[in-house]
Amino acid sequence: MKRTVKDLVGLKGKVVLLRVDFNVPMDETRKILDSTRIDNALPTINYLIEQKARVVILSHLGRPKGFEVQKSLWPVAMELMNKLPCNVDFCNAVIGDEVKYRIKYLKEGNVLLLENTRFYEGEDKCDMDFAREIAALGDIYVNDAFGTAHRKNASTYALARLMPNAIGLLMEKEIENLSKVIENPKRPFVAILGGAKVDSKIQIIDKLLEIADTIIIGGAMAYTFLLARGEMVGMSLVQNDYIEYARQTLIKAEEAGKKILLPIDHVGVSTSDRKSTVYKVKTLKGDLAGYDIGEETIELYRNEINNASQIFWNGPVGMFEKPEFANGTKKIAEAIANSNAYSVVGGGDTVSAINSFGTAKGFDFISTGGGASMEFFENGTLPCIEVIQEKIR
Ligand code: 3PG
Repeated sequence: MKRTVKDLVGLKGKVVLLRVDFNVPMDETRKILDSTRIDNALPTINYLIEQKARVVILSHLGRPKGFEVQKSLWPVAMELMNKLPCNVDFCNAVIGDEVKYRIKYLKEGNVLLLENTRFYEGEDKCDMDFAREIAALGDIYVNDAFGTAHRKNASTYALARLMPNAIGLLMEKEIENLSKVIENPKRPFVAILGGAKVDSKIQIIDKLLEIADTIIIGGAMAYTFLLARGEMVGMSLVQNDYIEYARQTLIKAEEAGKKILLPIDHVGVSTSDRKSTVYKVKTLKGDLAGYDIGEETIELYRNEINNASQIFWNGPVGMFEKPEFANGTKKIAEAIANSNAYSVVGGGDTVSAINSFGTAKGFDFISTGGGASMEFFENGTLPCIEVIQEKIR
């Protein structure tokens, strides 16, 4: 068992470096579209405030290339100001004199949010020098960023190696609930996978095959699998590097007596048509690119969902942000919410989708981790959890 923030004594006056995952969806005006990840981090932040710690919060947002104004965490600071009972300050840097100055004058029980950690190249590279500069700012490190716990970055991994540490309350809850899914799965166990981050998820499917009975695939990932099965995908997004992997995975599933379900009809758009006319088709031929699953696919997937005893869902099955391609994801969300199965959903976009459809109440556990929850299923833990000290019994 990992040490949690509640095991830490003498927090009063200490500078706690708290890593959270505030990678929240925003529109082009920088309006936060879904604040689930912020809300889920509040218990740890409020606990630290009550303990009179001086709370310095770190997070990434998106995948910026250097300093990008559009990826600033400033809108999140505004949200925190409304949600926390204390003063919230924001500093547009992660290291340097300005940060040191703000921390020096940070009062007990108050919060300072630092800028996007990914504005620094040392973050992704897990650079120890960058991490040392951050570590020098605080006394204790708490990691509550479950959604990023599969990424060995400077602020998620290296800091834990340099400072006394613990996990936060969200991380603890995620570990408890996701462990239940893999330790004793109720069968049939159906996993539904979709979303845009194909490269990081696709590699976990064969591991998921070991614990799930059926895997339903939608979203961008589906086209790579359809192509691997010899079907036409038109101009849809395909991960060429993974076609052979997808083919092997389909063979493996068949040999193991497991089902992998792929779309049997689509909602697509002609890539050469300037008006972007939407077509409902059985096959994606020529210049058509698929953006959502069709009605027959929804029916096929719904039948599987209705027979499941346990469901894990990660990744929208279409480009749900656009109303014309939201139908598949909405119908899948409704089917899961209305089913009797124990249901777990994970991932920023998927959670944002179920919230926007008003179906969140129908799910048994909502994980803030997308790729993180899938990798957790692979190994029963994650690198940034492993690096945290064990609880002293
Ligand atoms: C997520 O949204 O899954 C996490 O915040 C990690 O983001 P990343 O895939 O850009 O590392």
